Amino acid sequence: MVSPGDVADGDPGADGTFSDGRSGWLGRLGNVRNVVRQEMISRQLGKHLPAPSATVLDVGAGQGTQAIRLARAGYRVLAIEPDRSMRDTFLAGLVAEPAEVQDRVELRAGSVGNLGAVTGNAVYDAVLLLGVLMYLPAAEPVVAELAERVAPGGLLALAARTTTSAIWRPAARQDWRAALAAFDEYDRARAGRRDMRYTNEIGAPSRADDLDALTNIAAAHGLALENWYGVRIAVDSEERDPAPPSDPDELAALLDVEERLGTTDPYRQLGQLAHLILRKTQLATAGD
Ligand SMILES: C[S@@+](CC[C@H](N)C(=O)[O-])C[C@H]1O[C@@H](n2cnc3c(N)ncnc32)[C@H](O)[C@@H]1O
Repeated sequence: MVSPGDVADGDPGADGTFSDGRSGWLGRLGNVRNVVRQEMISRQLGKHLPAPSATVLDVGAGQGTQAIRLARAGYRVLAIEPDRSMRDTFLAGLVAEPAEVQDRVELRAGSVGNLGAVTGNAVYDAVLLLGVLMYLPAAEPVVAELAERVAPGGLLALAARTTTSAIWRPAARQDWRAALAAFDEYDRARAGRRDMRYTNEIGAPSRADDLDALTNIAAAHGLALENWYGVRIAVDSEERDPAPPSDPDELAALLDVEERLGTTDPYRQLGQLAHLILRKTQLATAGD
């Protein structure tokens, strides 16, 4: 049983830019975009994770959607989240779960930049950083820190905003001025050898990563790209974020289409998130 009292004392606070968008994020969890996002991430992870009861470290776990789903499936999850409001939301969801699910989850205060204080030297079969990287100043130190927490042969799952999607979204919505501004920012960022910045839909200042650059950073830290998926492709073109379809068959068809789009070029390129599965090399054993 997990209770707020089980959360580590001290709140390091989020050093990212997410807090500006927190209320927008929490207010839309039931809308179609998040429903699709969480389901796609689950399905895509499911193709790569080892069998339960493997260990998972979910960094920036937020409201706990993936951590709780994985615990339901039998995984043992350490969830790290810097923001007290997000942890409260996570705990509110977790206490509604059966005791054996609660027992497989540990939620602790902590943040990127200081993971060792929470994890010690432990390594995990899977490390997740889902929808967090865009709120942090740069990808390289984050990937370096997370790579250290991945067990040999384990994986790092990174869901990141790409420069492609940061330009495509306003264009797809026929917001021509915003699309031109995004192109201009992309050009300025390249000329200035810095990352592209934008303000995201929940009002938070954000950063976009170039997919190839991110893959190269990961490779430099011993993580090889196993596959990558686009997340949220067709549902994102409208300004509004409605409730999911109430007809279960319609929702199931939507999710299946998004899954197919997310695995297939050229469509996956246009996903609002790129979900990278990065595999750590197995250590050579004696006799190899
Ligand atoms: C958009 S939410 C994503 C939550 C969850 N991972 C998901 O995919 O549903 C972003 C989360 O990143 C967290 N975050 C922001 N800065 C962070 C940091 N420096 N270290 C860890 N998490 C951070 C925020 O507090 C927030 O819970």
